[in-house]
Amino acid sequence: MELRLDGKVALVTGASRGIGLAIARRFAEAGASVMLSSRKEPALAAAAADIEAGSAGVVGTGQVAWQVAHAGDPDQADACVRATLDRFGGLDVLVNNAATNPHYGPLVEIDRGRMEKTLEVNQSGVLAWSQSAWRAAMAERGGAVLNLASIGGLSVEPGIGWYNVTKAAVIHLTRQLAGELGPAVRVNALAPGLVKTEFARALWEPAEEVISRRLPLRRLGEPEDIANAALFLCSDAASWITGQTLVIDGGALSMPSGGVV
Ligand SMILES: NC(=O)c1ccc[n+]([C@@H]2O[C@H](COP(=O)([O-])OP(=O)(O)OC[C@H]3O[C@@H](n4cnc5c(N)ncnc54)[C@H](OP(=O)(O)O)[C@@H]3O)[C@@H](O)[C@H]2O)c1
Repeated sequence: MELRLDGKVALVTGASRGIGLAIARRFAEAGASVMLSSRKEPALAAAAADIEAGSAGVVGTGQVAWQVAHAGDPDQADACVRATLDRFGGLDVLVNNAATNPHYGPLVEIDRGRMEKTLEVNQSGVLAWSQSAWRAAMAERGGAVLNLASIGGLSVEPGIGWYNVTKAAVIHLTRQLAGELGPAVRVNALAPGLVKTEFARALWEPAEEVISRRLPLRRLGEPEDIANAALFLCSDAASWITGQTLVIDGGALSMPSGGVV
């Protein structure tokens, strides 16, 4: 079955690179109009141009736009949702993809500033963008929300504990919102394992071979692995799925050693 989003409008946060960019590209290829969002204008403009120039069926369609917004700022979320409605006339799919991890080390050593910044972007931000999308469009026309969690939200590991706590919160927030926003809006999450992006470079680059050997599927994730699952969950093929978190990790969590991100 071909998964399509023809006639749909999608908004993706953190879309200038990595997983967000791959999702935005996949959605555009599937026929959606896509608003890309992140903090830095030049990277966003380059990402939009890259999708428009190099993606099958997208060239010259004008279906990709971008808007600068900080994922942790509710006012900027509102402004970005409004810009999406102004540009494309609606909003059907919201992907809460942007996240941050300013602290590496034991949980007990994190300072309040980093704690709050992580919460603001990874956890409160997911709710704020969902609220904006619901109020401005989805309460009336329905839709789908997809949140980027992590297998770190389902396992325990040293170094990125607070980030993982926020990802565990995203998994529960997904269930809670699904209960509140249905039947009009479906809300699901993805829990990736280690994916080869800038965000996780310090984790995978020094040990790619060793980690890959431990995984049942013998390789790390690529952003496209996550984008394909995102397209499924946001398409009509998933019309009876809500409140779920889909693990995409090459089999990491199924191994006795558990998660790697
Ligand atoms: N890579 C992995 O191994 C992995 C594993 C599990 C889960 N995840 C999750 O997958 C998602 C995407 O990660 P990624 O690996 O693709 O990261 P990435 O390659 O570093 O890309 C992050 C994107 O988010 C934007 N961003 C960062 N902070 C932002 C903020 N405060 N407001 C708005 N935009 C912001 C960045 O652009 P600007 O800097 O221009 O804002 C960029 O577009 C995250 O939720 C992450 O937690 C990743």
